[in-house]
Amino acid sequence: MNETIKLQHSHRSIRSYKAQPVSDEMLQAIIEAGHRAPSSMNAQEISAIVVRDVERKAKIAELAGGQAWIAQAPVFITLVADFNKTDMGVRKAEQMQVIHESMEGLIVAGIDAGLVLANMMVAARSLGLGIVPIGGIRRNPQALVDLLGLPPLTFPLVGLCIGHVEKDAPLKPRMEVSTFRHDEHYDASHYQAAIDSYDTTIMEYWNQLGRTDGLTWSQNLGNNLKHVYFPQVKPVAAMQGLLNDK
Ligand SMILES: Cc1cc2nc3c(=O)[nH]c(=O)nc-3n(C[C@H](O)[C@H](O)[C@H](O)COP(=O)(O)O)c2cc1C
Repeated sequence: MNETIKLQHSHRSIRSYKAQPVSDEMLQAIIEAGHRAPSSMNAQEISAIVVRDVERKAKIAELAGGQAWIAQAPVFITLVADFNKTDMGVRKAEQMQVIHESMEGLIVAGIDAGLVLANMMVAARSLGLGIVPIGGIRRNPQALVDLLGLPPLTFPLVGLCIGHVEKDAPLKPRMEVSTFRHDEHYDASHYQAAIDSYDTTIMEYWNQLGRTDGLTWSQNLGNNLKHVYFPQVKPVAAMQGLLNDK
């Protein structure tokens, strides 16, 4: 197996960082890896806001629901759906942009942000750094819009902590790969057995870590997916002009 695949197979989220800064060279290499990601229609509608200021990171940590590792990591990057940028091109072509009001536009921005995120994560980890993606930035989106100075037609999608690893983390087990890979057609016939088995595996994982608060995969999803856990996303995105009604 080559080094890239080994790196990908060893992915784990890190939530404990040293105070040691990330060098400008490393940060620039990570940024350029994200910048090189493909984008739908070559729209390049994702922008990356780099925050290194201690107080601003502490504020983002608080807005994300008290995630201490955001304040601790020396670098925090917010990936933004930037339909303000594309709007400038569309206007230059003397057209009126509507894609930001559509389901398609939001799907595309989500996919493209994921690709940027993945490139940045692999780049950072290849430099020996630790990372954790942060969806919690969508908990209080208006406050983040204000903090980052995000104009209309933009919305913060996901964040990324980057830093030197203080405490490494074990690999988190996944559900068996047969629930992920489907050959030729979709087949969920083995899902229930795989879920039962994974619920046992994940409890063993929590026990090994000495975590008494660990839940099964099913219980965790039951708690989180029974409601819209970040209810401010829709109204704040709408106020930013991202309507999702077409
Ligand atoms: C889009 C996205 C958002 C996430 N948001 C958070 C977050 O807000 N806080 C956090 O601690 N972890 C967050 N995570 C990390 C997941 O909890 C983690 O990837 C998952 O539990 C699997 O663990 P692993 O990454 O160590 O394999 C996020 C991951 C992704 C992909």
